[in-house]
Amino acid sequence: MNSAISYIIDRQYDIVNSAPEPLPIPKFSTYAVCNLRGGIGKTSLSFNLSYEADDCLAVDTCPQGNLSYFYDNLYFQNNTTTVKDLILPYMLPGLGKASRVAKRVSASNTHFSQKNTFYVASTSDLYTLPSQMSTAINQAKSISGHQQAVAIDSMLYSLRDEIKREMTETETKNCLIDTSPFFSGATHLAWHATDAIIVPVRTDQQSINSLNLLLDTLSNPASEFRREMPSDGHTPKIQMVVLTHCAWSTAGGARNIPNQQTKVYVEKVRDIVNRNIQHFTTDNPDNHIILLDDFLGSGRISSALSKPISVLEAGDTMRINRVRTTVNESVEKIKAELKYINASIW
Ligand SMILES: Nc1ncnc2c1ncn2[C@@H]1O[C@H](COP(=O)(O)OP(=O)(O)O)[C@@H](O)[C@H]1O
Ligand SMILES: [Mg+2]
Repeated sequence: MNSAISYIIDRQYDIVNSAPEPLPIPKFSTYAVCNLRGGIGKTSLSFNLSYEADDCLAVDTCPQGNLSYFYDNLYFQNNTTTVKDLILPYMLPGLGKASRVAKRVSASNTHFSQKNTFYVASTSDLYTLPSQMSTAINQAKSISGHQQAVAIDSMLYSLRDEIKREMTETETKNCLIDTSPFFSGATHLAWHATDAIIVPVRTDQQSINSLNLLLDTLSNPASEFRREMPSDGHTPKIQMVVLTHCAWSTAGGARNIPNQQTKVYVEKVRDIVNRNIQHFTTDNPDNHIILLDDFLGSGRISSALSKPISVLEAGDTMRINRVRTTVNESVEKIKAELKYINASIW
């Protein structure tokens, strides 16, 4: 095994077998789950971590609304107040501000009945937010002097200020913001609303490319993020890269050996984190890379039932689109990995 990744791989074994000390990383209250690519596990991770957390406000900023659907299967039929109603009054003068928008998850998802979890729903209307935002920011630029910065700060921090108010109203200590694969609009605001970023990366080359794109957006002075900064220059750091869809060797006698694809991507991610360590919350790359096993049938059943992975049991079966689907034994590994991430970040 390449020694650069052996520490990460060994720790992964411990996470599953002996519940080691949480990662030595700072604790924050708000995280944006973000990578600029779809289908890599942002929403699944947000949903499952929101269940692990003691209490949590989950904010769905992806116009596809998959996280909102996990919390309420009637979401697409319902007309509710959404995250866009929180943001728009900061962009268009004259609109009244919203309050008490977050809903208690247990009201629509019985798996959360013992949990103090709330969520702010998304809306497909978020697709038009980028153009509304850029018009509003350009208008603010016609104001001269100090007022210009005040106006732009108020827009860039709109989501942060609204989340703070919703957290106070719901008495939640923790917040997770699920984001879309696109930076413009709500993701941009999520970066200013968050203390730190959690980046899911799937074991494929496109996810590596999007990790590089995310790092460039964070650091390049010409990027959409850096071109328009609030007056205090707020820039979130990356707390963790979660390598999703990981698989392990099935060769006889193999114990804790990643399969070739997983091994290659752990190496690639370790190398990128190492070269960009100034954007992370500590100076040790090994503190920031966690593997999450491929969910397999557990993921399909979790999605079909809107049921957190932690409450699935190995051997549970159901038919999904006429295919018999089973919760694999590996669900216990996934539960331990999710618990370890949860224990490390809050
Ligand atoms: N380790 C894993 N982490 C997250 N998702 C996984 C993992 N393994 C398999 N999956 C599956 O991959 C898909 C990820 O979809 P989703 O979370 O909606 O991604 P995104 O929000 O990034 O578009 C889901 O079907 C999920 O069950
Ligand atoms: Mg998603």
